[in-house]
Amino acid sequence: MITLKGNVHYVGVNDRAKTLFEGLWPLPYGVTYNSYLIADEKVALIDTVDVNFFDLFIEKVREVIGKRPIDYLVINHMEPDHSGSIRLLRQFYPNITLVSNKKALDMVEGFYGVGAQTRAINEGDTLELGHHKLRFHMIPMVHWPETMVSYDLTDHILFSGDAFGSFGALNGTPVDTHMDTTLYWSEMERYYANIVGKYGAPVQKALQKLDGVFIEMICSTHGPVWTGENVAKVVGVYDRLSRYATEEGVVIAYGSMYGNTQQMAEAIAEELSVQGIRKIVLHDVSRVNHSYILADLFRYKGIILGAPTYNASIYPQMEMLMSEIEMRDMKDHYLGYFGSFSWASHAVKRLAAFSEKVKFEVVGTPVEMKQGMKDSVRTACQELAKAMADRLKADR
Ligand SMILES: Cc1cc2nc3c(=O)[nH]c(=O)nc-3n(C[C@H](O)[C@H](O)[C@H](O)COP(=O)(O)O)c2cc1C
Ligand SMILES: [Fe+2]
Ligand SMILES: [Fe+2]
Repeated sequence: MITLKGNVHYVGVNDRAKTLFEGLWPLPYGVTYNSYLIADEKVALIDTVDVNFFDLFIEKVREVIGKRPIDYLVINHMEPDHSGSIRLLRQFYPNITLVSNKKALDMVEGFYGVGAQTRAINEGDTLELGHHKLRFHMIPMVHWPETMVSYDLTDHILFSGDAFGSFGALNGTPVDTHMDTTLYWSEMERYYANIVGKYGAPVQKALQKLDGVFIEMICSTHGPVWTGENVAKVVGVYDRLSRYATEEGVVIAYGSMYGNTQQMAEAIAEELSVQGIRKIVLHDVSRVNHSYILADLFRYKGIILGAPTYNASIYPQMEMLMSEIEMRDMKDHYLGYFGSFSWASHAVKRLAAFSEKVKFEVVGTPVEMKQGMKDSVRTACQELAKAMADRLKADR
């Protein structure tokens, strides 16, 4: 049994088998589905787990409360990684009351056909458990519309749903002070860039709402339980990422089938380095999962994209990356671009259209190459790199 504080327990699970979260994002270190149980005069469960783990989940719940019934299930978020066990839970505990906002309760009905015995709550409403008292705050669009957090007024614990979550299964007990947390900081940035990235403004609103709230412990639905100084650090990471604040450095993301366009990327990288830029990351859009490219794009201010023309369009993996950037509504970047073709160019035109759509400052002159590398193209690539370096250095 894992006790976090008094009668607040961790009943979440590690998923070390899933390879792609949401069918998209790699999980080399796994992921957790965190659930919490407050065994007070009333018993409240906060969120559930992926339905594939129901058996283990119920075992953990019973280890804490034995044959006692669960009075309330508080639902902070309805994505199935957390809500998946609701239908079975109702079968195990027929008298359980589902507590959430109206939007979430409608989704419970829609996803699981579970309706009766619910308690709809609004912003600021509270739920008395005996010693503990939960207060609810809506944080819509972080990253679904029904999302809310539950704050324990007694022990100052924030049950935050996906907010402040990270990828990575737990290496030991869930509390940060009991493990090496190094892994989770980078996995938190990747989680944010992949899952929450589009919703910078709603995250900022949520942070403002929680600003005056004294938090001793963050219990999110993914990754470690954060305590002490880490509480402010975690909030700081989410604040920085949701402001789209970047640091000096350049991500060169390129597509290349036969290496010609890659030579342009290499020439640009070399010149950036010569010009004094130290954080340069080259990503082949076909070989590196976009999950990692997006995480680096959230970190570094410079973006240089390049790809060959393909079937009178642009190389498909670059089309994909452009769409991923667009749908995240990313800001605070400088953009350069380049492309190649053999008989009828299209790639650079497509990148130009992209550059007009996104809210980035375009730097340098786009470079277009016909067939193989030549001196004039190399020089143009160097000029593009220099323009990017100069723009970044002007911000120092
Ligand atoms: C399947 C395929 C489709 C292509 N379609 C076009 C095209 O529509 N127009 C064009 O100018 N070049 C086209 N190309 C040529 C590539 O743009 C050209 O070979 C380029 O040099 C490839 O760059 P890479 O060596 O970086 O892969 C195509 C190449 C392939 C393999
Ligand atoms: Fe989610
Ligand atoms: Fe989640």
